[in-house]
Amino acid sequence: MALIEWSDALLIGVEEVDRQHRHLVEILNRLHEAMQTGGKSRDVVRVMQDVVRYTKYHFETEERYMAAAGYPELAAHRLKHRAMVAKVGAFSEEVLSGKSTVTMRLMTFLKEWLSRHILETDKRFGEYMARKYAA
Ligand SMILES: [Fe+2]
Repeated sequence: MALIEWSDALLIGVEEVDRQHRHLVEILNRLHEAMQTGGKSRDVVRVMQDVVRYTKYHFETEERYMAAAGYPELAAHRLKHRAMVAKVGAFSEEVLSGKSTVTMRLMTFLKEWLSRHILETDKRFGEYMARKYAA
């Protein structure tokens, strides 16, 4: 069973961002699957690297949209992204060095962070964009 089921409730209405969120859900599901078949395998390490790389890329995209739209909450949003990148980076280092394995606890954390971040923080940006470009 997938860790996260994609739901259209996660859409924020900015097409590229939505597409990337969908992809993030996919890689988290891939990581979860790899974890279940062996917590220390090379596969897990590879997917974990994908998660880190894609997360950074995705945050940059979001921030680019926010900057272009003059979004007033960009600075606060960016701080949340930075904190998450640091956390995921630290986890990933531990997995890469073999100090720890990808656990269900980590997966649950990633899942909850992503859904909450999209539903609460990214949605506010979606609403801002809708207001800004509605007229
Ligand atoms: Fe975000």
